[in-house]
Amino acid sequence: MPHISGPADGPVAVTGASGYIGAQLVKNLISDGYTVRGCVRDATRQDKVGYLNALNDQGPGSIEILSRDLFQAADGVYDDVFQGCSVVFHVAADLGTDPTYGDRSPQRTFDGCMTTTTGVLDSCAKAGSVQRVVYTSSLAAVAGLGSGGAPGDGYEYQDDDWAGAGPYETIEHRWTVTSPRTGELRKLWTLERQAYAMGKVEAEQYAYKWGAETGIDVVTCNPCHVLGPLMGKAHNTTWQQRIGQMLQGENGHEGRGNILWNIIDNRDIAESQRLMAVSDVATNGSRYILAATEASGELTVQQLIDTLQQIYPDTDIAGDYAPPPTADTPHAKSTKAIRELGLTTHSVRDTLTATVDSLISVAGIVPKAR
Ligand SMILES: NC(=O)c1ccc[n+]([C@@H]2O[C@H](COP(=O)([O-])OP(=O)(O)OC[C@H]3O[C@@H](n4cnc5c(N)ncnc54)[C@H](OP(=O)(O)O)[C@@H]3O)[C@@H](O)[C@H]2O)c1
Repeated sequence: MPHISGPADGPVAVTGASGYIGAQLVKNLISDGYTVRGCVRDATRQDKVGYLNALNDQGPGSIEILSRDLFQAADGVYDDVFQGCSVVFHVAADLGTDPTYGDRSPQRTFDGCMTTTTGVLDSCAKAGSVQRVVYTSSLAAVAGLGSGGAPGDGYEYQDDDWAGAGPYETIEHRWTVTSPRTGELRKLWTLERQAYAMGKVEAEQYAYKWGAETGIDVVTCNPCHVLGPLMGKAHNTTWQQRIGQMLQGENGHEGRGNILWNIIDNRDIAESQRLMAVSDVATNGSRYILAATEASGELTVQQLIDTLQQIYPDTDIAGDYAPPPTADTPHAKSTKAIRELGLTTHSVRDTLTATVDSLISVAGIVPKAR
């Protein structure tokens, strides 16, 4: 189906509207005049919808917030929400970032990405009005296990690279590896990190097949390390939480994947998602890596600490932590989104400043003085 022209084509829906990425998307859409139906698990949670309701005072668009659970998507709970919508932005994934909803597990992470998406897509088809689905996947679906480059080899991932893309005979085979260090056979779909990559890969592939069958284009963005302004305290999770730990003089990194910070601003993701809805270049199966704009946006852990220290000379960034050498991966850029969608991006310095300032002013982080 063709792209939409803009807000005049009708309301749009956003799943995961309260999240770190979803809330910036809602803000962007409202600034552009869209009428938004935002879905969250619990529309009475003021800590997660207060900053969305406040956007109604800014306009010119508006938001109505609805309670819907992804795990009931197969029961058609999104049917009425999507009726009359021109675009569905499917941003939500159940990743266990809110512990009040229970513990995470590999199966829940997989289902929270994949199985739930099939139900969301069913509701998109039933609506009869949806012209395009803009899906939020992850660089994990590009650069995870079985993708073009081996970790540490300096490989530059491309938008058409796939995790799990090797010559595998079965799904179990695809997600099983032999450890190069110990020779041990590891069933990676039972690990949280790989259940996530697997869920995103399979959701994307299912969605493009569904798009070809229904004639409704599915267009995807694949963000890497997301930073940028927090709109509420609830956004103090994931990578931004690690920045907050560094601000408090903790290392914020030890024991975690020692890879490059390949940074994209959540405001740039929001802008890309909106542009993906109206793009006449994007079509079913189009994928957009959202990561650094140039090599200077791919920081080793030491470079990240040094940059934060330069911007905030009076703060004890990461204490006396001396990070081990960072693996030379993942390298990937937003080049295709910039070229095809006309995206303009924030500099890494702007992104880090907006992250830190909002961690302090919105999330209440108290930096440790030097
Ligand atoms: N952050 C990153 O670095 C990053 C990188 C690559 C890709 N992504 C992808 O970007 C998307 C958004 O991530 P985020 O960082 O914004 O995460 P987030 O802040 O944890 O937001 C998750 C959103 O999904 C909703 N949600 C979670 N479980 C749900 C359920 N069972 N039913 C209905 N809604 C549910 C949450 O709503 P409530 O909690 O209010 O119910 C929230 O709005 C995800 O698909 C994620 O995989 C994120």
